[in-house]
Amino acid sequence: MEKALVTGTDRGLGLAFTDLLLREGWEVFAGQYMQGETGLAALAQEFPDRLHITPLDVSSDESVDRALATVSGMTDSLNLIANIAGIMASTVVESDPEKRDSPTGDGTIFDPMHSDALLRLYNVNTLGPMRVTNRFVHLLLKGEGDRTLVNISSEAGSIQTPTVERDFLYGYCMSKTAVNLQSKFLQRSLAPHGVRVFNIEPGYMKSFIITGTYRSEAAVECADSARGIYRMIRERRDVDGDIYFRYNGEKLEW
Ligand SMILES: NC(=O)c1ccc[n+]([C@@H]2O[C@H](COP(=O)([O-])OP(=O)(O)OC[C@H]3O[C@@H](n4cnc5c(N)ncnc54)[C@H](OP(=O)(O)O)[C@@H]3O)[C@@H](O)[C@H]2O)c1
Repeated sequence: MEKALVTGTDRGLGLAFTDLLLREGWEVFAGQYMQGETGLAALAQEFPDRLHITPLDVSSDESVDRALATVSGMTDSLNLIANIAGIMASTVVESDPEKRDSPTGDGTIFDPMHSDALLRLYNVNTLGPMRVTNRFVHLLLKGEGDRTLVNISSEAGSIQTPTVERDFLYGYCMSKTAVNLQSKFLQRSLAPHGVRVFNIEPGYMKSFIITGTYRSEAAVECADSARGIYRMIRERRDVDGDIYFRYNGEKLEW
């Protein structure tokens, strides 16, 4: 049975991807960050033998170490690490400057900059996936069959061809540009070991990331994004080819 570690699984894409993996027959170690969300608990009732819920705050060395100890107690190998957890740390999403609100300073260059909020953004979005990969990669190297690392980045991190030319949200955008380089770097390190790396833009999803409330006006269902990502990791075989894709398989420029 194939085994996956997934981060940020309480809701949004992480929950949808966990749901999909379980229905595809995987054993899943799901990183739980939030208290009180019911999605994982419902899946645990349905898949009591294959879903292992593990507390995991990707911004904390201690939390990731504890999760590693827990997972290592149940398996000595993984086939997939999916780094999905992420934050936006801002409600600065309106294109109309009058409507922009920048409580974290992650606004335009003319807004006040709040370093603590931005450091948290990098700790979660950029160092988070690196921290998890660093701790768990030895389990991935021991996996039998396909081994895959997925980093959920964003089109917002593309320097060359972002679909939206933003002059705000610089903290989030830069945090994802750094994820892009991280994925490329990891591909160089892991391809010789037969591990495939994907750096994915999951689409403008109906999730919770911007305000903490469900964004029904967004374009893509999390389940559809999850399905597209899964199809890609099933179908693209080469370890040293392109790695930056939209969830539907479209290649993105860096
Ligand atoms: N939604 C989009 O349109 C979109 C577009 C491009 C890229 N992305 C990326 O897609 C990924 C998933 O986003 P989503 O839209 O599904 O967001 P979401 O609905 O907010 O889900 C993300 C989950 O990760 C959790 N999380 C936050 N900090 C964490 C930490 N330190 N450790 C572990 N988990 C943590 C969140 O908890 P809290 O709610 O408490 O923060 C939430 O449960 C993110 O990396 C995001 O940057 C999203």
